[in-house]
Amino acid sequence: MIHLRNFIIAGLLAGVLFAGTTACAADMVRQPAAGGDPVAGKVESGMCQGCHGAEGISFVDLIPNLAGQHALYTAKQLRDFQSGARTHQIMSSISKSISGTELADISAYFAGLKIMQGDGSGENPAAEKLFRNGDLARGIPSCMSCHGVNGKAPAIATYPVIGGQHKAYLRVQLFHWRSGDRSNSPDGVMNKVVKKLTDAEIESLAGYISGR
Ligand code: HEC
Ligand code: HEC
Repeated sequence: MIHLRNFIIAGLLAGVLFAGTTACAADMVRQPAAGGDPVAGKVESGMCQGCHGAEGISFVDLIPNLAGQHALYTAKQLRDFQSGARTHQIMSSISKSISGTELADISAYFAGLKIMQGDGSGENPAAEKLFRNGDLARGIPSCMSCHGVNGKAPAIATYPVIGGQHKAYLRVQLFHWRSGDRSNSPDGVMNKVVKKLTDAEIESLAGYISGR
């Protein structure tokens, strides 16, 4: 119960911090861990491992890696699937089969695994420039300012690790943010970020980020 309470407080804190930040504060300290028990989480995540991998690396391009992902981010996604703030045929139903404590434990388990790593593919100067600097003239912010160098999200636990994530999964998420099919980011920030990206830019960004 104490774990769960800490977890909720940490979540609220992260929400408040985010609400007060329009740009990204890369110098901010990492949020406290979600407070789950990773040892229990390893057992409780048995039904997840068939798809997401025992080590949090999936073998299907459309199923995201969870290895090294921030516990607070993973926990938020699971709660969003439970509440309907984020929808997906499989995850919406599976997420409802776990309790609040299991959700925190499982998130802690995957967070503690060796972080997902790209294979260096997807080199693309235009995508790299967009990732690092954005495009001020078109109102596209730097991805790196929030997601960190190589998309490894050092600053704030609500900004997910994206570097080394599967390309097909990244592509789908970027299209869904742009169309509004996914709209669960704080203040709709990701919907705004990707609004001006072209199909070709989404394709090359997904490849570039996946390779990091
Ligand atoms: C049958 C396969 C399957 C199983 C079993 C499964 N998942 Fe998933 N999971 C998926 C797919 C596919 C997605 C991608 C959803 C999307 O495209 O939005 C996903 C997405 C997620 C995400 C979002 C990741 C991100 O980067 O935003 C989390 C978190 C997650 N799953 C956790 C779990 C947990 C925890 C379990 C076990 C309780 C579980 N999944 C079981 C297939 C599965
Ligand atoms: C102002 C901060 C900010 C900027 C800039 C930003 N992001 Fe994000 N991004 C977020 C947040 C916060 C989330 C998590 C949303 C949630 O809670 O579901 C996210 C989520 C994502 C996801 C989903 C990850 C997953 O595992 O499902 C992808 C992909 C992504 N961002 C790509 C990008 C790209 C590409 C750019 C640059 C064009 C970018 N982001 C710029 C804050 C940002």
